[in-house]
Amino acid sequence: MTILAIETSCDDTAAAVVKDGRVLSNIISSQDIHDHYGGIVPELASREHVKGISHIVSAALTTATVTMEDVDAIAVTYGPGLAGSLLVGSHFAKGLALRHAKPLIPVHHIEAHLYSGYLEVPTLTYPSICLVVSGGHTSIFHVVDVNTYSVLGSTKDDAAGEAFDKIAKLLGLGYPGGPHVDRLSLLGDPKAFDLPRGLYHEKSYDFSFSGLKTAVRREVEKLREKGLTLPVNDLCASAQSAIVDVLVSKTLRAVDDLGIRAVVIAGGVSANTELRSRMQEEAQKRGIVFVAPRMDYCVDNAAMIASIAQLRFDPKRRSLATDIDFEISPRALRA
Ligand code: KG4
Ligand code: ZN
Repeated sequence: MTILAIETSCDDTAAAVVKDGRVLSNIISSQDIHDHYGGIVPELASREHVKGISHIVSAALTTATVTMEDVDAIAVTYGPGLAGSLLVGSHFAKGLALRHAKPLIPVHHIEAHLYSGYLEVPTLTYPSICLVVSGGHTSIFHVVDVNTYSVLGSTKDDAAGEAFDKIAKLLGLGYPGGPHVDRLSLLGDPKAFDLPRGLYHEKSYDFSFSGLKTAVRREVEKLREKGLTLPVNDLCASAQSAIVDVLVSKTLRAVDDLGIRAVVIAGGVSANTELRSRMQEEAQKRGIVFVAPRMDYCVDNAAMIASIAQLRFDPKRRSLATDIDFEISPRALRA
């Protein structure tokens, strides 16, 4: 089965072709325009999607050396995300489905991240614990099978990626901030600043990152008042280590509490070097499986949209008319 997928939930225009679990193409076009504003400007994001989507979908088909004739179904993200951005992708997909009379499969963005580990390791067995950690979400899931999962805990305020981005902004680094903080942390001392680890000692699997951001702001203000140069590398390393400490400890606690033998990380922040190596270490200690998708599958991408669509697609179901009758859902998170 060949699936063409489209993902435009935020600021990346992405399209991919996946055939029988194999990724034939995975094209991601990031919108640099937002760097200038230090964060995503929703209206600009939709306009950039409009400009790029046709070209990106063509590139996905060409790279995969398939035509629309070879495509069995089209998958598209319906939420959560920015309303305007979701509309561009879903309308484009609906048009394509109508024009070529193909089934259309609406996909939940976080569910796609949740199952992206199966793109990397198709033989990965259930159950697993999955940490989905991105710019908009930070949650620990207990994944029972391809259709069944539950949320064990989530952030009470900022997502981890948001914390990375806001801290990077305070330090005058570019957007998105995560990759900058990751890179500079390698040059800094993680113990230089004693920063708070929100809800670290609480029994719940919930997170809180807003206190960390405030603490970094205070440190920056104190240093500036004294006329000192900001030790950016040390601040990055200390903040990153505070974020990673809670992510790792809570995820592994869920693994231990539920006696699960596989742990997966997904979402943009799972590209983080320290998070990957610390999780790997902890998994090794316990002798359990650890899956961290390759970078192209961690960030927002359409291969993960195709993958979950393929796992769930029933070729016998519904008519095309029903297929295109879905609405975007900017705030949807199935708990
Ligand atoms: O999943 P994603 O691409 O988009 C959302 O759905 O949010 O995640 C984007 C987030 C941004 O906050 C970005 O700063 C963060 O992922 N990120 C990282 C790294 N690469 C991307 N955070 C920490 N370390 C990284 N290497
Ligand atoms: Zn995402």
